[in-house]
Amino acid sequence: MQTEVTRLIQSHRSIRRYTDEPIGEEVLADVLACAQWAPSSHNVQAYSVIVVRSEEKKRELAQLCGSQKWVERCPVFLVFIADFYRLKQACEMNGTKLAADEVENLLVAAVDTALAAENVLLAARSHGLGGVMIGGIRNKPQEVARLLNLPPLTTPIMGMCLGYPDQDVEQKPRLPKRAVFHDEEYRSDHFPEALEEYEAISSEYYLRRTRGERPEGWTKQMADYLSKPRRAHLSGFLKEQGFPLK
Ligand SMILES: Cc1cc2nc3c(=O)[nH]c(=O)nc-3n(C[C@H](O)[C@H](O)[C@H](O)COP(=O)(O)O)c2cc1C
Repeated sequence: MQTEVTRLIQSHRSIRRYTDEPIGEEVLADVLACAQWAPSSHNVQAYSVIVVRSEEKKRELAQLCGSQKWVERCPVFLVFIADFYRLKQACEMNGTKLAADEVENLLVAAVDTALAAENVLLAARSHGLGGVMIGGIRNKPQEVARLLNLPPLTTPIMGMCLGYPDQDVEQKPRLPKRAVFHDEEYRSDHFPEALEEYEAISSEYYLRRTRGERPEGWTKQMADYLSKPRRAHLSGFLKEQGFPLK
């Protein structure tokens, strides 16, 4: 049994091509308001959102995100920032010192930020917009921080392209439910056959989507993706930004 909301959630697909139609201020304001109604760990609200409309800035960000042309072409690009800078000020206003040295604080901020971001994407879709989240914003964090004037105790977590869809893409199949959901306890004996099934389903999908060019299914893609270091520069950047991650 579905509701309007569950139908919206279950029809998700990332959209990377947009029409020229601008996003109206009222629509954007309504969408952004939804970020703040995500739940937040201990109500710390440890995120900020930077709205980028400037063509020049989008062009620069597109380059910094790994030459992702949808970052440049979307009418609105949002940057979701994990933010303990404001919390430091709240502590100082009350005569205490922020002790945000542990991994836990970054996790709290990253989770808060992601919850806010997904609210925004869903809200945008409910207005007929489409979008895609952009982890490429963590490719060159120093340059992004400089461009966006980020203070210490902040770090970009993800970007988001938003615009009215100019493409209708097939939904990307997800893992079989039995590989994800467990009853009462974690069981993994059925993983091999569930993963084989998903390899076949996802391979067919990628063959269709790439017109025969990319036959690798999900397990093959993950085996390649996860066997190489990813954004190894991030721990150094986080330390520079005041997240020592003890
Ligand atoms: C945190 C996050 C970062 C992502 N970064 C990028 C990105 O940099 N570029 C991109 O094109 N898609 C990016 N995506 C989109 C994913 O590739 C996409 O969600 C995934 O392949 C599933 O496809 P779907 O969203 O169409 O269902 C990102 C998604 C998430 C959640």
